[in-house]
Amino acid sequence: MKNIAVFASGTGSNFQAIHEAIEKKEIDAKITLLVSDRPKSKAVEKANSYGLNCFAFRPKAYKSKMHYEKAILSELKAQKVDLIVLAGYMRLIGETILKAYAKRIINIHPSLLPRFKGIDAIGQAMNAQVRVAGVTVHYVDEGMDTGEIISQQELDISSMRTRDEIEKEIHKVEHKLYPKTLKKILEDL
Ligand code: GRF
Repeated sequence: MKNIAVFASGTGSNFQAIHEAIEKKEIDAKITLLVSDRPKSKAVEKANSYGLNCFAFRPKAYKSKMHYEKAILSELKAQKVDLIVLAGYMRLIGETILKAYAKRIINIHPSLLPRFKGIDAIGQAMNAQVRVAGVTVHYVDEGMDTGEIISQQELDISSMRTRDEIEKEIHKVEHKLYPKTLKKILEDL
């Protein structure tokens, strides 16, 4: 069985979806670590309530990104993590972790990449008035949402009127696509 670490900064609804899929034995893996750059986030609360190991840190407490990534890396090693799953982690992964986990870091992004990279992808899609939005799971490289695409799912938003509605539907897609894609990646790892 493979060990995974989930990195999350916010609500952690994707983290929850993955945790639930593992609990239901839909995915053969163990979450051995939750990493968060926001100690007071919902994601950290969830990790504590699930009884998972958690490394929550304040980036400002470190001299540089390299310093906090080294601290993360030693936790990843201690927990024998095979794959890193980014789920709403709001920081670019730096060289320290990228080198140690080449092609073993994945991310989920709420757009059909390569369109609408970066912050507020849903807002970008709304401004562009696209009829079809979607979700992408991709490998992580040094760029922002630029790594190799693993899976995508479209979502027709043409009849949706509010941002809340679109966000809700995008999340529904994410909560199915991410566990499904993760299962496949772990089988091939
Ligand atoms: C998701 O929309 C994901 O695509 C993006 O950040 C959001 C995280 O949401 N990378 P949550 O914390 O999993 O609820």
